[in-house]
Amino acid sequence: MSTQGNRDYRPAYHYAPPAGWINDPNGLTYENGIWHLFAQHYPDAPVWGPMHWIHATSTDLLNWQDQGIALAPDEKLGAIFSGSAVIDRGNTSGLGHGVDPMILMYTSHGKNEQQSIAYSDDRMHFTPYEGNPVIANTAQKDFRDPKVIRNDKLGCWTVVIAAGDHVEFHASDDLIHWRKTGEFGAKENRLGGVFECPDLFPLTAPDGSTVWVLIASMALQAPFGGHRTQYFLGAFDGETFHETIPAQHARLLDSGYDNYAAVTFFGAEKRMLLGWGMAWAYADRTPTNEFCGVMTYARELSLVDTDDGLQLSSAPVTPEFDLREIEAQTPPSPLPRHYVPKTVGELPADLFHVRVEADQAFTLALSNEDGEVLNVSISTEQKLVVDRSKAGRSGFSPIFDSGLFAVTTAQRTARGKATVDIYFDRMIAEIFTDHGTVCNSTVVFPEKPYSKATLWGEGKLYIGGVKESAD
Ligand code: FRU
Repeated sequence: MSTQGNRDYRPAYHYAPPAGWINDPNGLTYENGIWHLFAQHYPDAPVWGPMHWIHATSTDLLNWQDQGIALAPDEKLGAIFSGSAVIDRGNTSGLGHGVDPMILMYTSHGKNEQQSIAYSDDRMHFTPYEGNPVIANTAQKDFRDPKVIRNDKLGCWTVVIAAGDHVEFHASDDLIHWRKTGEFGAKENRLGGVFECPDLFPLTAPDGSTVWVLIASMALQAPFGGHRTQYFLGAFDGETFHETIPAQHARLLDSGYDNYAAVTFFGAEKRMLLGWGMAWAYADRTPTNEFCGVMTYARELSLVDTDDGLQLSSAPVTPEFDLREIEAQTPPSPLPRHYVPKTVGELPADLFHVRVEADQAFTLALSNEDGEVLNVSISTEQKLVVDRSKAGRSGFSPIFDSGLFAVTTAQRTARGKATVDIYFDRMIAEIFTDHGTVCNSTVVFPEKPYSKATLWGEGKLYIGGVKESAD
């Protein structure tokens, strides 16, 4: 059960449910100026329970309107686990009534995990297809989280499904009849665990070539690892994925623990990704009162060349901030031994952007009047270090409090001056180093808003509150 806290931790611009629990984002779709977000949801308590899909819409990816429950557990086939959505252009399924329907594809989680679909003409009411499941399964224990994409190579639909130690690809002309076309990941998985919530999409590399990205969230049981999202770079031949650009180590989407099951939107021009801003290891104990779980900011993905080879870079969609440089303090003269330069600025309560630009190692401390402090550093080894061990409440979960989850690190993949952008919204810090090449999403539960930013070290500090809108 969630520990009951007094403080309201509801973020301003990150989606959280009105009440109850959410985990993975599902059915992310863009159509005619509207972003659709569905999520794994249990409405009756802020803990995981029989899964529904909750639905919200937005025109800017920041302000979300709740649209209620889209899918509820099915007596015959079970709970509604994760999945995706497409706009069925040309009504290939025949399930639209004079319009191209929106089709949701999800896992029916009952005695077995099988894939089902639901359809909608108005994008607000969703009807499970009466012939469900469309991909039956009695053989595999883990077989879930279908992500449907339009397959332009074969002129059909392709779905990627997590299947235990690998992912599978199935193809269809009508979203109803499917045939298996391939498998990937049993050999290439560098993290262990069970595959969950895959995604597959092309991006253009800096050299102009098309590179396919396969995202896979890996269920690694705490306390050994904590769930992590890795990605592979390669080619999609229409039937299966090939890792043609291997890495020495697992490529991680985020070095923090609070970005899981991230997938991208169908139908958008830009490749927009959004994740669950929370971790399985402690989510149900977080002190957020009537709701549990938030989404990350949406992020536009691109490919960049770095010291570590080709990798993903993320640019978040945030409110507009009024970023201003804070004047550095004049050093005392003569300089005392071991003098560390310090720049201090006041933070707007609960919603802000802080940027540090520095040539050398530094620590940025975001602190409040109770002495709680979230430390973000670039170490002398050029690592991003995010230390939330004293950032606020933590005793609600021994796992949240443990070293593995309290301090997270990641090697920079760029050289020279570091730019670190921190976007904070009440309980979630999203940190983008070197313009998004190293990301870290971290939830914190300060008793009072952080009110002060202190930069220890040589560098420039900028602080921004949200810009007042013109109207
Ligand atoms: C990932 C996951 C999915 C599953 C869902 C259940 O976080 O475990 O694999 O469909 O959550 O809520």
